[in-house]
Amino acid sequence: MTTGRRVALLGATGAVGKETLEILEQRRFPLADLRLFASKRSAGQKLSCQDREWRVEELKPDGPFDDIDIAFISATDAISREYGPRLADAGATVIDDSSVFRMDAGVPLVVPEINPHTVHDAARGIISIPNCTTTPLVMALKPLHEAAVLKRVVVTTFQSVSGTGAAAMEELMEQTRAVFLFREPEVEVYPYQIAFNCLPQIGSFDADGYSSEETKILNETRKILELPDLPVTATTVRVPVMRCHCESVNVETESPLDPDRARELLAGMPGVVVLDDPGARLYPMPLPATGKDEVFVGRVRTDPSVPHGLNLWLACDNLRKGAALNAVQIAEILVKAN
Ligand code: A2P
Repeated sequence: MTTGRRVALLGATGAVGKETLEILEQRRFPLADLRLFASKRSAGQKLSCQDREWRVEELKPDGPFDDIDIAFISATDAISREYGPRLADAGATVIDDSSVFRMDAGVPLVVPEINPHTVHDAARGIISIPNCTTTPLVMALKPLHEAAVLKRVVVTTFQSVSGTGAAAMEELMEQTRAVFLFREPEVEVYPYQIAFNCLPQIGSFDADGYSSEETKILNETRKILELPDLPVTATTVRVPVMRCHCESVNVETESPLDPDRARELLAGMPGVVVLDDPGARLYPMPLPATGKDEVFVGRVRTDPSVPHGLNLWLACDNLRKGAALNAVQIAEILVKAN
C-alpha cells in the first residue's frame, strides 16, 4: 500500500490551485493530510478534495511548515521566492510553478514525459515546473529532435487569460459583458482591454525588445531538452480566450522529416495526441482541449522555405498539463520513488 503524503498547496484559491485540487482528486493522489494556503482574505474558506472539506489558512511566515512532505506553490513570484526555500528548509519537497528558480543550477525543471530522472537532482529541495507554453512545446519537439535533430525553432503563442490567473479570467468576462452593454470596459489586469483584442506583450520587455515570456520559452526549452545552444525564438501574444494556449511552431531539422513521419513520431510521444485532418476540419483548438490532459498537435506540413522544415500547430490546457497536472505528475514520481 502507498503511504499517504502530507501535502501543502500555496495559492489554493487561484486558477492553478483549484485545478491542482481537482487533479489530486481525479488521480486519487495518496493524501495523508492537505494544508491549503492563500491570502488573508481567503482564510476560512472551505475547499473540497477527495470527499473532504479542507479549510484555507492564511499564509504566514511562521507557518508552521514542519509537517509537510510535498508543497505545491502556485501563487506569485514573491511568494515562491519567500516560501520556496522556507518550506524546503523545513523538510518539504517544493514543486514550484513560478519562474523564480527555473534556471537555477540544482533546481530541476521537469516535464515527466521528458526528463523524469532529474526529479532526483533537487539539491535545494525545490523542483520547478516550466512555463505553461514551454511544456507543450517541448513535448512536441522532443520526438522530432530524437528522429531528425533540431536545428532551429520559431514559435508564436496564442495564450489564454487564465495563464494570468483568476482576476484576468474575471476581467475578460467583465469586459465582454461591458462591450455588449455599450459600457466602457474597465482595464485593470492588462495594459489594454483584452476583450476583442490581442496583446503582443506577456511580461515586461528587455532592452532588445523581447518580453520576459519570450525569454522564458527560449531558456526553458534549452534546459529541458538539454540543448544549451539550440536556436529558439518566440513571439508571445495574449488572446481573448479563457483557457488553453495555442502555439504555431516552425521547426527546422538537420535531417529530412516528412509530415507523415512527424505525425507518427508525435503520436508515439506519451501525452501528445495528433489531431490532423484539415480536409475534415480536424485540428487542435482551445475549446475542445479545455479540461483535457494531453497536448494536441495538428496542421503538420512541410515548410518549403528551408531545406528541412515543418510547421505545426498545438493546443494545450495551460491550467492542466501547462501547470497543475505537470506538478502533480512530479509528485507522483516522488511517491513512486519512495
Ligand atoms: P487569494 O485568492 O486569497 O488572493 P491566481 O493565479 O488565480 O491569481 O491565484 C493566485 C493565488 O495566490 C491565490 O490563491 C491567492 O490567494 C494567492 N495569493 C496571492 N497573493 C497572496 C499573498 N500575499 N499571500 C498568500 N496568498 C496569496
